[in-house]
Parts: sequence; C-alpha cells; structure tokens
Amino acid sequence: MARRAKTIAVNNETFEELISEAAILRRVRELAGQISADFAGKTPVFIGVLNGSFIFFADLIRDVSIDCEVDFLKLSSYGDAKISSGTVRLLKDLNCQVEGRHIIIVEDIVDSGLSIEYIKRLILHQNPASFAVVTLLHKPEAMKTAVQLNYVGFEIPKDFVIGYGLDYAQRERNLRAIYRLKQ
Ligand code: IMP
Ligand code: MG
Repeated sequence: MARRAKTIAVNNETFEELISEAAILRRVRELAGQISADFAGKTPVFIGVLNGSFIFFADLIRDVSIDCEVDFLKLSSYGDAKISSGTVRLLKDLNCQVEGRHIIIVEDIVDSGLSIEYIKRLILHQNPASFAVVTLLHKPEAMKTAVQLNYVGFEIPKDFVIGYGLDYAQRERNLRAIYRLKQ
C-alpha cells in the first residue's frame, strides 16, 4: 500500500519514513497522559493551529482524560513553499473567550518558532489563566525565537517533513507516518 510505504515519491523528490505510525500514536498517548495529569481538576481549552495540526489534534484530544473544550485558529506563513516566508498572518481568529481560561496551543511542528511566538502574543493579550504549547514535532536547529514549548513529541533534524497532517504544497497530509525529504 503506497500510503504506508517506507519511501515515497512526491514531485520527483524522495521522502523516507522518519517516524512510524505506531511510534507517533505511542508518543501522542504519553503527551495526552502528561497533559491530563498536569491539568487535572481544570477544564483547559485546546486550540488547534490549522491546517497542519488537525490529525495530531484529533488523536491527542481523544487520549485526554479530563474535561476540555476545543477551538481553532488558522495562520498562514509558508504559502506552498518548503521554506517559511517569515511573515505570519491570521486567517481565522478564535471563537472562544480566552480570558481566565487555561489555553493549550496544539501545533504540528515548531520550526522557526515565529508562528508560535505570534500566537503567544495574540493569546496573552487576552489574559488567559495560563498558556501552554504542545507540539508533535520540533526542529531545535531552526528555532529563531525563545518561546517555551511545554510538551514536545519528537525533536527532529531541520529537514522538510510531511505526513500526519503536515503538507507539501497542501498535499500528503493524509500519510499515516511522518516522512522526511531525502537529501
Ligand atoms: P514556524 O513559524 O517556522 O515555526 O513554522 C510553523 C508552521 O510551518 C508549522 O505549523 C507548519 O505548518 C509549517 N511547517 C514547518 N516546518 C514544516 C515541515 O517540515 N513540513 C511541513 N510544514 C512545516
Ligand atoms: Mg502549522
């Protein structure tokens, strides 16, 4: 099955499996357990950053064992390129009230950190009770900001990755594993 192969071709480029579906799901369960323990007795609002986080978000939230609410915001920074444009724009704002709430931002990946820094500023402006970030992936070598990441699934090299919600020009989000561009 092509959707589960160890190596795949996209636009004449080769991607190889970096993190298997099983390893992702195991780690997602651990993150959800940690968050459930840390926020026991509270009702946090999980805020998914569209589009990339939608699959991670859906898996994470179903492994969370405490009461919670969900909301989404949408940013744009990449266009269809593989390198961040460096400019962040808000394409969809929140619907929930942030003031006095425990906010947990759910990201697919923190690369330069510019998106998460923008989100943090946006949220802190609205006086939440607390602010935390959970990201499935983090590229420490690419980080250009000092925003604290409270829960990190996997630290990865700064190669371009796709699958499990992450796209290449909007495609390949439906791959079950995470693949990296082969150099
Ligand atoms: P940052 O602002 O540079 O931290 O980038 C954040 C966003 O860029 C992530 O939420 C992703 O949507 C996207 N992104 C960063 N690195 C990759 C990648 O390797 N593959 C696909 N999308 C990426
Ligand atoms: Mg994203």
